[in-house]
Amino acid sequence: MSNAHTTVGNAYSAAPLAQPDAGERKPYTLFDLKLASPIIGAYISGVDLSKPLSDAAFDEIDRALAEHTVIFFRDQTLTPEQHIALAERFGEIDVNRFFKPDDRYPQIAEVRKEAGHKANIGGGWHTDHSYDQIPAKASLLYARELPPVGGDTIYVNAIAAYEALSPGLQRTLGGLKAVHSSRHVFGANSRALAESDLQGRVLNPELATQDAVHPVVFTHPRTGKKALFVNPGFTVRFDGWTEAESAGLLAFLYEHHKRPEFAHRFQWKPGSLAIWDNRTTWHVAVNDYAGQRRLLHRITVKGAALN
Ligand code: SIN
Repeated sequence: MSNAHTTVGNAYSAAPLAQPDAGERKPYTLFDLKLASPIIGAYISGVDLSKPLSDAAFDEIDRALAEHTVIFFRDQTLTPEQHIALAERFGEIDVNRFFKPDDRYPQIAEVRKEAGHKANIGGGWHTDHSYDQIPAKASLLYARELPPVGGDTIYVNAIAAYEALSPGLQRTLGGLKAVHSSRHVFGANSRALAESDLQGRVLNPELATQDAVHPVVFTHPRTGKKALFVNPGFTVRFDGWTEAESAGLLAFLYEHHKRPEFAHRFQWKPGSLAIWDNRTTWHVAVNDYAGQRRLLHRITVKGAALN
């Protein structure tokens, strides 16, 4: 992507972004793929995910995930076992320590909000599990019960966010690492938990002891593309910097990262499945469906150490 437009914009207008550099993308031959936007996401049709995928079909799906950062499927009918089997194609399941698991399947984390609840899970911009020593590769979120309207999920592309920065800032960030933590979100002293009705849906504060240091710029192993790897949910500071010193640069990066051009807002329907690459996206669950129940099943898959 060109670095010609590097400002966040003035108060009223933003400079247009160049199209992302798609490189030498091979066509997809085993399913139909339609872009969700020029910059992030793709809708895949013509695949029944309840059936075992051939190696060739899985490889194309995995490539689509790497190239588009989040992929969406409609009209899938998945039992929990089929959801688990699909997730295992992407890698070993990274059992979430904090979300209440499904009663029968500990591999499945419940993303649940009842009609009487106020707080939702994932209601701030974040990257799942970035506090793990080895951050998760992907999450597979499947809709089980939805409000009649609302409860969308918004994704932003961390590769596009990185590519739109100036070469000077890219160089600076390339030399930095950042500290990520689960403590302030899921730990015993978490204000977010204490001041909300998430108790019972978010568990095990005593397990929120992770602090991990990761490069601020992640290079994707499949595409070689670089992505910005800091997020407002779990990043605490730059490694070797204080929180106060880090706050200004992180605030700039977060504001930049949230540009609407980098985003796609996904509207769930019964049978929808979203799979996102955790290393190259952020997401946020929109909490606009007061008085309605929403239940999705999430499985997160392990990745490899970031480089
Ligand atoms: C999550 O943060 O993984 C949940 C997203 C959602 O509920 O839409």
